[in-house]
Amino acid sequence: MNRTLTSLCLTAAALTGLLAAVSCKKDAGTPPQQTQTKGQSIMDVKIEPFGGLPDGTAVELYTLTNDKGLKARLTTYGAILVSLEVPDRNGTPGDISLGYDSLDGYLKVSPYFGAIVGRYGNRIAKGRFILDGIEYKLANNNGVNHLHGGIKGFDKVVWTAEPVKETDAVGVRFSYLSKDGEEGYPGNLKVVATYSLTNDNELRIVYEAETDRATPVNLTHHSYFNLAGQGDMLGHELTLYADKYTPVDEGLIPTGEVLDVKGTPMDFTAPAAIGSRIAQVKGGYDHNYVLRSGGGTLALAAGVYEPVTGRLMEISTTEPGIQFYSGNFLDGTITGKGGHVYPLHGGFCLETQHFPDSPNHPGFPSTILRPGQKLTSLTVHKFSTK
Ligand code: GLA
Repeated sequence: MNRTLTSLCLTAAALTGLLAAVSCKKDAGTPPQQTQTKGQSIMDVKIEPFGGLPDGTAVELYTLTNDKGLKARLTTYGAILVSLEVPDRNGTPGDISLGYDSLDGYLKVSPYFGAIVGRYGNRIAKGRFILDGIEYKLANNNGVNHLHGGIKGFDKVVWTAEPVKETDAVGVRFSYLSKDGEEGYPGNLKVVATYSLTNDNELRIVYEAETDRATPVNLTHHSYFNLAGQGDMLGHELTLYADKYTPVDEGLIPTGEVLDVKGTPMDFTAPAAIGSRIAQVKGGYDHNYVLRSGGGTLALAAGVYEPVTGRLMEISTTEPGIQFYSGNFLDGTITGKGGHVYPLHGGFCLETQHFPDSPNHPGFPSTILRPGQKLTSLTVHKFSTK
């Protein structure tokens, strides 16, 4: 193992506990028997085929199971979280994420359901920025702007995967090499995204990246959650640990201001139903909140409670921002898992991140990664009921 890899592994170990490759069964689909006798762990990583791309590239599905009733299915296509089963207050498991039953759906049309988004999550104005005196032009895929990594972002590539096992968690480590020039970005960027399911009922995501030329990087996870499993999520109660947000223009590009949420419909410093003031926000919520923590250390960013099922999801992150997106572009035209039609506001996203368009806003926390530096970032989704 070379020095770079060693330090990457040590960083990951510091963040998540010791990661060690486990030998896992590869089979064609029969689920393993998962009956738990007292004191015996059923934690497991199962690997199955999940179809393939039109060019024949094989795609796999990893199923992670913890000892407490959580089950996550993840695919090497886009490092997508395909489903996440979480018990409600009666202990009944239910899938709380939006997406498709099969790879085909993701290949046809997906508004980033469950994916790892990069090289730059969120928008870069007019797909351009100047770095060290050189102007870079990116692929524009959102009107005149660049969104979520461009035409073929990290959500649309096949990642390499290996199962991992910690003392009290199971996971999958996804790796991808984004080549110099991809979607217009400078530098070969090695990216690792490790998802794990812990016995504390957490879904953890560790991001790591290193580059051979200076480049902007902003990695995030784009699950649409609905803690009730279906319908709209306007009754979910949201808390955001943020006193400020970055207002946007018509194209959803930050104006550069950082405003107080106090006294506005943007204020979620105390729990409030997502639907309670959404009508006062033009287009719905699609804003970056400036986290009170400032980033750098793991701190609470958001809490979401669904009163009917009793499910509570708390998100902590080392990132300085979180994009709260209320599923404003869902419009009933997508039929997802189990034949569910996804209506307007059928799911919400809470994308932990650096601020949108940071390469064009010197006042925002920097997103520039340079050769010799290692990006590490951690986001934890913790599940409970009340
Ligand atoms: C992000 C953006 C939204 C939208 C969705 C995908 O959350 O902020 O504006 O583009 O992704 O539809």
